[in-house]
Amino acid sequence: FERQDGRLQRQRLLVVANRLPVSAVRKGEDSWNLEVSVGGLVSALLGVNEFEANWIGWAGVNVTDEIGQRSLTEALAEKRCIPVFLDQELVHQYYNGYCNNILWPLFHYLPLPQEDRLATTRSFQSQFAAYKEANQMFADVVNEHYQEGDIVWCHDYHLMFLPKCLKEYNSEMKVGWFLHTPFPSSEIHRTLPSRSELLRAVLAADLVGFHTYDYARHFVSACTRILGLEGTPEGVEDQGQLTRVAAFPIGIDSDRFIRALELPAVKYHIKELQERFAGRKVMLGVDRLDMIKGIPQKILAFEKFLEENPDWRDKVVLLQIAVPTRTDVPEYQKLTCQVHEIVGRINGRFGTLTAVPIHHLDRSLDFPALCALYAVTDVALVTSLRDGMNLVSYEFVACQASKKGVLILSEFAGAAQSLGAGAILVNPWNITELASSIGYALTMSANEREKRHQHNFLHVTTHTSQEWAETFVSELNDTVVEAQLRTRH
Ligand code: G6P
Repeated sequence: FERQDGRLQRQRLLVVANRLPVSAVRKGEDSWNLEVSVGGLVSALLGVNEFEANWIGWAGVNVTDEIGQRSLTEALAEKRCIPVFLDQELVHQYYNGYCNNILWPLFHYLPLPQEDRLATTRSFQSQFAAYKEANQMFADVVNEHYQEGDIVWCHDYHLMFLPKCLKEYNSEMKVGWFLHTPFPSSEIHRTLPSRSELLRAVLAADLVGFHTYDYARHFVSACTRILGLEGTPEGVEDQGQLTRVAAFPIGIDSDRFIRALELPAVKYHIKELQERFAGRKVMLGVDRLDMIKGIPQKILAFEKFLEENPDWRDKVVLLQIAVPTRTDVPEYQKLTCQVHEIVGRINGRFGTLTAVPIHHLDRSLDFPALCALYAVTDVALVTSLRDGMNLVSYEFVACQASKKGVLILSEFAGAAQSLGAGAILVNPWNITELASSIGYALTMSANEREKRHQHNFLHVTTHTSQEWAETFVSELNDTVVEAQLRTRH
């Protein structure tokens, strides 16, 4: 974009996501400690120089006083972040309730809550109302900061109502929406009481994106079967108006991981881990402690493997990093107890005075420690029961240039469609198959490991997060231009 004075100006991107990429901790009445978290989305947009990304989202803290809100807004502005303030009750109904107890499970093929149907129906309605209210609050903040020509990129299942709210403010806004989870089969989506309202709200966007072609197809089927609209190869058409629907598989900033392996801190951790687990093969799981990740299935398969292969009992260790998440939602609390119980039982059963088969950590690791763990791992286990993409599998591959370890990957993760040829694909519900895949992975020939790794490494280093962001945004620009041309003719 050229300015009037002839200088090039970067296009402004308003990235709207439930959570800002910064976590805020209050230090005093008007002082804040901000920590930037470099997740997939942040690194994707850092690498794209054509755009100037500004973030709009919830800061993850409850701030009700004016001084707090003003000082946090000022502090965040330095990081190009704009907060949306949600009060505690709204967070409870919208985030813990509708987002993480209804939409998240359903989109991962876990049915709607069944206990006490009446109570669920009542709370379902109030949670949906809170969801719409929260989405409207995000829209208000976007509208306040919007400048003509900006691109507004909405993210994930938290903000399905946002495209509609934004277009009601300004039908000229360029609006894209991307879903980071699977979009389920239309038969699953149709169980949702608010199924039609949500679909129509998303269709207000100019471009709707998913990780895989399957998810895009499920979305189009939901629109045709539930709303009776017409699906075309380009997307969904409603009275001559097209919403473009397409697949944009996300990636990682692979260079960041590859470069990290040269850092002294990472080398130090690598050496430490190698010494600690000398003589044993290292198997690794890194997941948020979420029911969709199939952590119990993974651990039970490891138990079966040890049960059937006594020779391996003192030669292999499973390191499971389980990052706590959404800890106010009862389902997540139950899962934590369940996982602890299984790990305790297995360690009691197969542990010795000097070693245990499973090291389970309920916390996240910092970046150097994580890279080191990826680098020393012989077999990574990604056993999601469903997963939009799963970037842990990509991060593991990026850190394995010298070791060429094996990736065991669930066929229900989006990543199975890109890393399937290099990984061992498994159905995580089939514990017997999973246990025998562990044996196969641990004894795989160096030649086969090399070939599989090369395939995945090439994919991970060429389909990066930067490329993903660029493709989505340029497709959104093109979609809007094409729509303008169509209305002119
Ligand atoms: C998934 C979602 C993201 C979300 C992340 C962490 O990856 O797709 O939108 O930010 O989980 O969950 P949380 O609830 O802590 O934001």
